[in-house]
This record gives sequence, C-alpha cells and structure tokens, in this order.
Amino acid sequence: MKLLGLITVGTTLVQAQVPYTEYVLTPRSRILRPASVYNVNGTVSNAEQLTTGTTAATTFVGQSAVTYDFGKNVAGLVSFNVSDVSGQNDHIGISFTESSLWISSEGCDATADSGIDEALWWAVQPGMQYTAEKQYQRGGFRYLNVYHNDSTDNVTLADLHVYYTAVPHYTDEQLAEGVQTGFFHCEDDQINRVWYAGAYTNELCTIDPTAGNSLIYLGEVNSTSNITEPLPWYNNYTISNGTAVLVDGGKRDRLVWPGDILISQPGIFVSTYDMEMLRDSLDSLLVLQNTSGALPYAGRPFGTALPVWSFTYHLHSLTDIYDYYLYTGNLSYLEQTWDIYKLALNFSLSFVDDTGLANVTTSADWLRFGMGGHNIEANAILYYVLTTAIKIANILEDTSDFVETWPMIASQIRIAANDRLWDSELNLYRDNDTQPLTDLHPQDGNAWAIVSNLTGSTARSSNVSRALQARWGPYGAPAPEAGSTVSPFISGFELQAHYLAGRPEAAVNLTKLMWGDFMLDDPRMTNSTFIEGYSTNGDLHYAPYSNDPRISHAHGWATGPTSTLTFFGAGLQVTSAAGQTWLVEPQLGGLQYIEAGYQTNLGSFSTSTRAMEDGGLNVTLSTPQSTSGEVRIRYHGTLASLTVTNLDTGTMTRRSGEALDVVKRQSSSSEDAQIVTVSDLQGGNYTVILQLS
Ligand SMILES: *[C@@H]1O[C@H](CO)[C@@H](O)[C@H](O)[C@H]1NC(C)=O
Ligand SMILES: *[C@@H]1O[C@H](CO)[C@@H](O)[C@H](O)[C@H]1NC(C)=O
Ligand SMILES: *[C@@H]1O[C@H](CO)[C@@H](O)[C@H](O)[C@H]1NC(C)=O
Ligand SMILES: *[C@@H]1O[C@H](CO)[C@@H](O)[C@H](O)[C@H]1NC(C)=O
Ligand SMILES: *[C@@H]1O[C@H](CO)[C@@H](O)[C@H](O)[C@H]1NC(C)=O
Ligand SMILES: *[C@@H]1O[C@H](CO)[C@@H](O)[C@H](O)[C@H]1NC(C)=O
Ligand SMILES: *[C@@H]1O[C@H](CO)[C@@H](O)[C@H](O)[C@H]1NC(C)=O
Ligand SMILES: *[C@@H]1O[C@H](CO)[C@@H](O)[C@H](O)[C@H]1NC(C)=O
Ligand SMILES: *[C@@H]1O[C@H](CO)[C@@H](O)[C@H](O)[C@H]1NC(C)=O
Ligand SMILES: *[C@@H]1O[C@H](CO)[C@@H](O)[C@H](O)[C@H]1NC(C)=O
Ligand SMILES: *[C@@H]1O[C@H](CO)[C@@H](O)[C@H](O)[C@H]1NC(C)=O
Ligand SMILES: *[C@@H]1O[C@H](CO)[C@@H](O)[C@H](O)[C@H]1NC(C)=O
Repeated sequence: MKLLGLITVGTTLVQAQVPYTEYVLTPRSRILRPASVYNVNGTVSNAEQLTTGTTAATTFVGQSAVTYDFGKNVAGLVSFNVSDVSGQNDHIGISFTESSLWISSEGCDATADSGIDEALWWAVQPGMQYTAEKQYQRGGFRYLNVYHNDSTDNVTLADLHVYYTAVPHYTDEQLAEGVQTGFFHCEDDQINRVWYAGAYTNELCTIDPTAGNSLIYLGEVNSTSNITEPLPWYNNYTISNGTAVLVDGGKRDRLVWPGDILISQPGIFVSTYDMEMLRDSLDSLLVLQNTSGALPYAGRPFGTALPVWSFTYHLHSLTDIYDYYLYTGNLSYLEQTWDIYKLALNFSLSFVDDTGLANVTTSADWLRFGMGGHNIEANAILYYVLTTAIKIANILEDTSDFVETWPMIASQIRIAANDRLWDSELNLYRDNDTQPLTDLHPQDGNAWAIVSNLTGSTARSSNVSRALQARWGPYGAPAPEAGSTVSPFISGFELQAHYLAGRPEAAVNLTKLMWGDFMLDDPRMTNSTFIEGYSTNGDLHYAPYSNDPRISHAHGWATGPTSTLTFFGAGLQVTSAAGQTWLVEPQLGGLQYIEAGYQTNLGSFSTSTRAMEDGGLNVTLSTPQSTSGEVRIRYHGTLASLTVTNLDTGTMTRRSGEALDVVKRQSSSSEDAQIVTVSDLQGGNYTVILQLS
C-alpha cells in the first residue's frame, strides 16, 4: 500500500458527517418493510398491517393477492411469519417487479430474454417463519406481490419483511450512521433528487460476489423462443473475489461490465467513496485477459462462456483502471496493472490502419447497431485512452519506445477522424466512412468526440453540442445508432460533452428532461433508481431487447448526472492522485447556486458557487492542506474585479483594471465565455469573488 498524506489507502471507508442527508435513499437498517399497499385482489383483511411491523397480522381470505409498494427500488431476501392457516394444503407465493407495468398474477418481471420469472412458493404451516434461500435474493424490486392460492382456506401472515442484500460489505453500524461521504445541493430539488438517485442506483448494483448471475439460459432462452410458463431464476454464481462487487444492474445482469463501470465508478467516488470493491471488480476482468492482450467484454461467466470481444469495452477497462488510481491515489495498483494495460493497448493499436484510424471488426458494444469500420465512437475512445495512457506513462516514468509512439498515433487519429468523418453540413461526425456514406450521425461518437477532445477545438465542440441538442425529443436525447432508443448510458457522456463545450445550460436541461421528468417522475419508474434504456416515444421498450419486462430499472450506467453535476456543475475535480492537485471550475448553467463535496484518502473537498445580483459569482472552496490546485471561472461580460480571500490566513488579493490581465483569458469558445484563472493555490479555505461591470 502506498501512503498518501496521513491516511492509508485501503483501510475502511472514510466516514464523516455530510449535509443534506434527507435526500439519501440508502436504508439505515437491513430490515425493510413495505411503505404502502398498492393493490388488493380478492378478499384480504388488514392488508396494510403488513406494512407496519412485527406483531400485526393480515389475513388472506380464499384465493387473493396483495401488491405491496416499497416506495423505492430495493433488493433482498423475503421473510414472513405464518400465524394461522385454516386448511391443510395452503401455499403462499411471492413475486417481484421494478416497474408497476409488470405486476402480474403469474410471477415477476423478467431476467431472461423471453417470458417472465416465476414466483417463489412455500407450503405453509402455522407458527412457522419462511425466508427465501440466499440464491433467491432479488436484486431490484419496488413492488412485491403476496399470493394465496387456495379458494376455501384462510392464511394469516405477520412480519413480512425484506433483508436488504445490496452493499453487503457495509456493517449494520455503517448503514445506521449513513454511508454517504459526498453531497450535492442546488436550488432545484428535482436535480438534487437525481443526484441522490444516481448514488443509490450504484448501491443496488453493489452486490455479494457469490450472488452473481448464473446465466442459466444463456443461448437457450431468447427472443425467438416462445415461453409460456414462468421461468426459474436464481443468483448464486461467483463473479469476483472480495466481499462486494460492482455489477451493471441490480436485477440483471448482475455481471461485471467495464462500460458500466466507466459511469458508475465516478458516481461512487463522489457519493460514497466505496473504492476497494471496485478494485476487486476490475481484477475480475483483468484475470480474463488473453495472450493477445484482449480484455473481456464482461466478467464471468459471460466473459468466458461467449467468445465475444468488444473494441470499446476492452478500452473502457483501461479507463476504469486509471479512474480507480485517480480517485484513490493507489500508485501500486497502477504499477501492478501497467503491463496488462500496455498489452491491451497494443492489441487495440493493431487495428489502426494506414488511414490513421482503427478499423473495428467486431460489433459488440453497448448494444448499439452497426459498430464497425472506421467508427467514430471507437476512434474517439481510443484517442481518449491514448491521452490517458500518455499521462500514466509520465506518472510511472515509462519512456520505452512503445510509449514514445503514442502521441503521434493519437494525433493521426484526431486528424484522420476530422478529415474523414466530419460532416460540416450537419456539424456532426458520421458513424464511419464506409461507402456509400452513411446518413447516421451517432450520439455515442459525437458525445465522445467532445469528451475525448477529438474535436481539437472548443468551437467545434460547441457546434457538436448544439447539433446534438437540436435532436432532443420529448423524452430525451436520441441514440439513432441503436434504433428508436434513448440511452441513459450514452446520454451520460452527452451531459459531460455539453459542459465541456461550455454549454452548461444544455446539460442542466437534459438532466431535468431525462433523469428528472421521465426517469424519476414518470409513474412507471421506481422514483429512486435509473432505467437502462427506453424508447424515443416514451415506451419502456429498449430496442436491443424484445422482452420488455427484462429491462433493468437500476442500472449503474444510467447514473451519469451524479458525477457530472459534481465534476462540472459544482466544478469540483481531482486532477491527480486522490486530489493531490485539484481544479474548481463551476458552471451553473442557469442554476442560482450549487454546492458539492466529497472525501478522498487525502481528506475533504467541497465548494459552493452562487450567482450574485450583478451577474458576478461567489465561489467558496475547501481542500486539504497537503494539496494544491486552481480555480477557473467562466463569465460573460466585462470583468470589473477578482477578489481572492484565504479564509485561513485572512489574506485578501483584489485585482481590477489592468491587473486583471494576468488572470484573464479569452476563450476560443463560440459561446463567447471568457475565463479567469487563479492558479497555484495551496489547499485550504478560500472565497473567490468575481464582479462584472
Ligand atoms: C390483480 O388483478 C389484476 C386484474 O385481474 C391483475 O392484472 C393483476 O395481475 C393482479 N395482481 C396480482 C398481484 O395478482
Ligand atoms: C375465512 O375468513 C372469512 C372472513 O373472515 C370467514 O368468513 C371464513 O369463515 C373463513 N374461512 C375459514 C375456512 O376459516
Ligand atoms: C433461440 O431459441 C430458439 C428456440 O429455443 C433456438 O432454436 C435458437 O437456437 C436460439 N438462438 C440462439 C441465438 O441461442
Ligand atoms: C413462436 O411463435 C411464433 C408465432 O406463433 C411462431 O411463428 C414461431 O415459430 C414460434 N417459435 C418457436 C421457436 O416455437
Ligand atoms: C444455484 O442454485 C440452484 C437452484 O437452487 C442450484 O441448482 C445450483 O446448484 C446452485 N449453484 C451453485 C453454484 O450453488
Ligand atoms: C480470484 O483471484 C484469483 C487469484 O488472482 C484468480 O485466479 C481468480 O480467477 C479470481 N476469481 C474471480 C472470480 O475473479
Ligand atoms: C457504418 O455505419 C452504418 C450506420 O451505423 C452501419 O450500417 C454500417 O454497418 C457501418 N459500417 C461498418 C463497416 O460497420
Ligand atoms: C476492416 O477490416 C476488415 C477485415 O480485415 C476488412 O474486410 C474491411 O475492408 C476493413 N475496413 C476498412 C474500412 O478498411
Ligand atoms: C484539445 O485538443 C487541442 C488540439 O490538440 C489542444 O490544443 C487543446 O489544448 C486540447 N484541449 C484540452 C482541454 O486538452
Ligand atoms: C434551458 O431551459 C430553459 C427553461 O426551459 C430555457 O429557457 C433555456 O433556453 C434552455 N437552454 C438551453 C441551452 O437549452
Ligand atoms: C418520489 O420520491 C420523493 C423522495 O425522494 C418523494 O418526495 C416524492 O413524493 C415521490 N414521488 C412520488 C410520485 O411518489
Ligand atoms: C460569498 O459566500 C459566502 C458563503 O456562502 C458568504 O459567507 C459570503 O458572505 C459571500 N460573499 C459575498 C460578497 O457575497
């Protein structure tokens, strides 16, 4: 372990009081009870008693059912007591759904490509308690159905509850105290709820590594098989080492996917700093690297059961390694994985042809269609990884010949992509250069072109950002490369893209449109976790799947706003190992104030930015003493003064008139924003006041 400052990497979670805990959705206890009765079928006396506690009793009279609502998506093992049974051969059944759409008298929503999942049934006797076996933990459900199957008898139940199985490595004490290490707040309550729902979604995706997806139907049940009976399901496959693992979705796939980690990991960093389980998750991918350097599309058992290789997901594992290092400062992990990283990058570079671009020959990606050839998304991601790889080589002081080739390869990718794939009429990149030229201008490649800085200029980034926004529909940003799809995953990169292009208002508006109005507040949703994909017309249909009940409603890849609002809205970024250096660059995007904070192994970081009446800004920040960084403020108009106060020493520096020239920079952005930079700040507490004339 590498020592950083006073705090060791790899000890237990850093815990401290954070404000705004009223938004936190994580339960404080592992014992969960339903919040309300959603619906009663048949005759049930005192159905609501089962929401209240241990002693109350509910009687199912004859054939009947109750749907209970937990008020939010939860995960766990069901238990109930049977206090009375009037007959001899009575059964109680339990089933689960995330969306109210799939509540059914037949069973659960689905985890397989076809059909629905069967209910769990118990033959019941009075005076007994029944608890689902461990492999029947359900990783995502808001609604729980309780069925009684006998038309003549009555059964009385008590103490219906769920033992919460997500984040299994947290102790009961940690849960009781609160696991949040980061916070976010602004004056728009819906945006606050989005931030915390993202944090909670990632928690439902953090599971017991021995409770992964067994993929029992891989290659057997699929969209073309006609399933009539509900299917058995269970979760008992070991998918990683360690005590917790980050998977794509709570209900399914319950597998480690490098693409999903790309969004989840930064979300976890800013909200709970639950970083050690991420290393176990990454390791479960890295152990599957083959001798060519190829890293798996997904972890076990999928990564070994199907010989599918994805150009992009392979690269995402590399970004995941760097992000883990950036957030934790764990240098030895970077050193340990560097050979794996270089071998993998070498494999990716073997696809670069004489055009300067990589030619993708396998279609596996985030379930978009048509991934192949000189694809813009793939090349932007490769450009991004090369830029990161150059940073890592500097950190590790690797000056080998192989490393020395990267800057040239990267710049050739940028030049060739802009030359061959840019469509100046639409201000967007085409999907590829396959002849005849495609009309498809994908969301993924265009968002990634900005995120990776493949555009090479803020003016081009701003044009792409505008063109992407012009395509929004009533339910969000379309991903035409995946049919009539809205992808919360790819839209997470689009959010970053709007901020990076200096168009924060577009990012704030898209957050509200997609994650607020639809993904939280639509009654078909869980009002607590984010869905993996849906249709441009607002149907809960995701183009790659023909079985709608299968869609996951708690998908880590849909949590983009959580890290994006903190990194780009509040503007609180770590720029090297665990925040040894940092950047505060707020962009309010139409909001009046934003506050955010998080902790790393080096200590606490927080910032707050307020718009002042005259159009100026008031930025406060607090960072650990051992660190250093800079504040960058974008503004429109004429700068009158900049005042920096060190609150620890009371020192104040006020610049106005010509003295401002040292800190002022005209941005090349077509948004006409200018930037002032206060650099070389030692860690501590500051206010920075910018006034316009
Ligand atoms: C209750 O009855 C309705 C209408 O028949 C049905 O759609 C629903 O699936 C039933 N719910 C349960 C939990 O059985
Ligand atoms: C079941 O409960 C109903 C309503 O309380 C009652 O009328 C009926 O007699 C009971 N049936 C049996 C078999 O106990
Ligand atoms: C899909 O299911 C059908 C019917 O069971 C089977 O014949 C077919 O091979 C399966 N397809 C795949 C790709 O597994
Ligand atoms: C499934 O049902 C459809 C429509 O009834 C039929 O055309 C198809 O052959 C069936 N497929 C299988 C695998 O039985
Ligand atoms: C998983 O659970 C199923 C159903 O109970 C069981 O058949 C199977 O043997 C279990 N697998 C493991 C690895 O425990
Ligand atoms: C657990 O770690 C060992 C040693 O690195 C490795 O061989 C094994 O594949 C890992 N298991 C999983 C499920 O990742
Ligand atoms: C180029 O893009 C179009 C649109 O996505 C797609 O249909 C086509 O298959 C792609 N070409 C290759 C070689 O993948
Ligand atoms: C990409 O590689 C494949 C397989 O080698 C080849 O068939 C195809 O023509 C190449 N595409 C381009 C755009 O060079
Ligand atoms: C983006 O790329 C251009 C061209 O290489 C470079 O001048 C600029 O500094 C880059 N911007 C960032 C933020 O890295
Ligand atoms: C954002 O939404 C607000 C309120 O609807 C609207 O006034 C503004 O023009 C929008 N801005 C952008 C860039 O979308
Ligand atoms: C959604 O959840 C929030 C708490 O996060 C609650 O205040 C609100 O009432 C809920 N909305 C609905 C429609 O249940
Ligand atoms: C700036 O904000 C801080 C913290 O909210 C506050 O204490 C201070 O008075 C503000 N300064 C001005 C000039 O508004």
